Amino acid sequence: MRQIVENLLSNAQIHTPPGTAVHVRVGTARVGAAGGAERSGRSGVSPPLPEGTAVSIVEVADEGPGLAEYDAAHVFDRFYRADVSRSREHGGSGLGLAIAATIAEGHGGRLELDTAPGEGCVFRLVLPVGPSG
Ligand SMILES: Nc1ncnc2c1ncn2[C@@H]1O[C@H](COP(=O)(O)OP(=O)(O)OP(=O)(O)O)[C@@H](O)[C@H]1O
Ligand SMILES: [Mg+2]
Repeated sequence: MRQIVENLLSNAQIHTPPGTAVHVRVGTARVGAAGGAERSGRSGVSPPLPEGTAVSIVEVADEGPGLAEYDAAHVFDRFYRADVSRSREHGGSGLGLAIAATIAEGHGGRLELDTAPGEGCVFRLVLPVGPSG
């Protein structure tokens, strides 16, 4: 958990301009028909959790530049960096999100991203709570 959140927070700091606001939200919910489905602007590695699953949610939302659709679809790939010239300055390996997504899946959960150019990034950690099914 800590590793995932630290990763998302450092990304929000590193991959957005200085002074960009970052919001962290936590809560519980049930996966809804719309919330569980993939929709335009949403990406993730594993499939959405079944509708009705009780979940806890941690969101790291930044007001940075956001990501284009192609980048959003690939940021969870190992070694993928959306802005290589800028990322190189920071020495990132492009592994952080791939590892975070793998940890989330290992706990039966999911890491997903809602973004669009100019609309910032919302990374959402969704973890099932209590008995599943
Ligand atoms: N909040 C964000 N806003 C814009 N782009 C982002 C954001 N978070 C991640 N990215 C993009 O996604 C890419 C992949 O992120 P990831 O955390 O996997 O790797 P990294 O940060 O480059 O390196 P590492 O985490 O391994 O040190 C980043 O290089 C960056 O281009
Ligand atoms: Mg990173």
